[in-house]
Amino acid sequence: MSTRTPLMAGNWKMNLDWKQGLALVEELGERLKDVDTSAVEVVVLPPFVDIRTVQTVVESDRIPLAYGGQDISAHESGAYTGEVSGQMLKALGASYAAVGHSERREYHGEDEQVTNAKVKAAFAAGLVPILCVGEPLEQRQAGKHVEYTLAQLEGGIEGLTAEQAAQIVIAYEPVWAIGTGEVATPDDAQEVCREIREALRAIHGDSVADAVRVLYGGSVKSSNVVELMGKEDVDGALVGGASLKAEEFAKIAGFQS
Ligand code: PGA
Repeated sequence: MSTRTPLMAGNWKMNLDWKQGLALVEELGERLKDVDTSAVEVVVLPPFVDIRTVQTVVESDRIPLAYGGQDISAHESGAYTGEVSGQMLKALGASYAAVGHSERREYHGEDEQVTNAKVKAAFAAGLVPILCVGEPLEQRQAGKHVEYTLAQLEGGIEGLTAEQAAQIVIAYEPVWAIGTGEVATPDDAQEVCREIREALRAIHGDSVADAVRVLYGGSVKSSNVVELMGKEDVDGALVGGASLKAEEFAKIAGFQS
């Protein structure tokens, strides 16, 4: 039995303005009362402009919900128009920052070097990076999905200390399964999540490999989460569309009940 606490993270992407975000978090707070949140960590990744609102509700209603950014600047501060630093997120009580989501890689040209710098920027600010990796359809069809994903992993974690590596969260998100309704089978998810863990073992040893939470992402819903979570190396989910409805996301968070 794994001692890793499952983690369910909702990536709102560019959805919900602050008022809508407020309504979602308030409802989620109510619904999480029926979830054993000592047995699962629940996280939301709202748009930056919603985070102050999320902080206020989480703190005033004492909701067992962590939150973070969908991205983070690789830089500490200064003349980087449009960017948001790790320190700014930390000052809002954030715990996490997603790094290298496939949409960042595809639409913003983020490569391994940028991703690695962002992972390090998150740690420098005291945030836990959720490093997203995963192959496009072509690589899957060519049978190169493991190789491709591990190259992203290794590039993303390069130069981390073992202590940092033990804290990181990895999200395996096959690009062809994101927002498409095309969920990877539990065996597909397990195959790559295990390879990710074994790659961590080869680089950082057993204690790191056994501690790191490896999530699956791509069309996760309350109807498929239980089966995915039944796999040994799947420690949680990064949820897009299904995290925009409090009832559905709370069901995902409560997958154990
Ligand atoms: P999806 O998105 O759940 O809507 O497929 C997942 C993600 O991109 O993190």
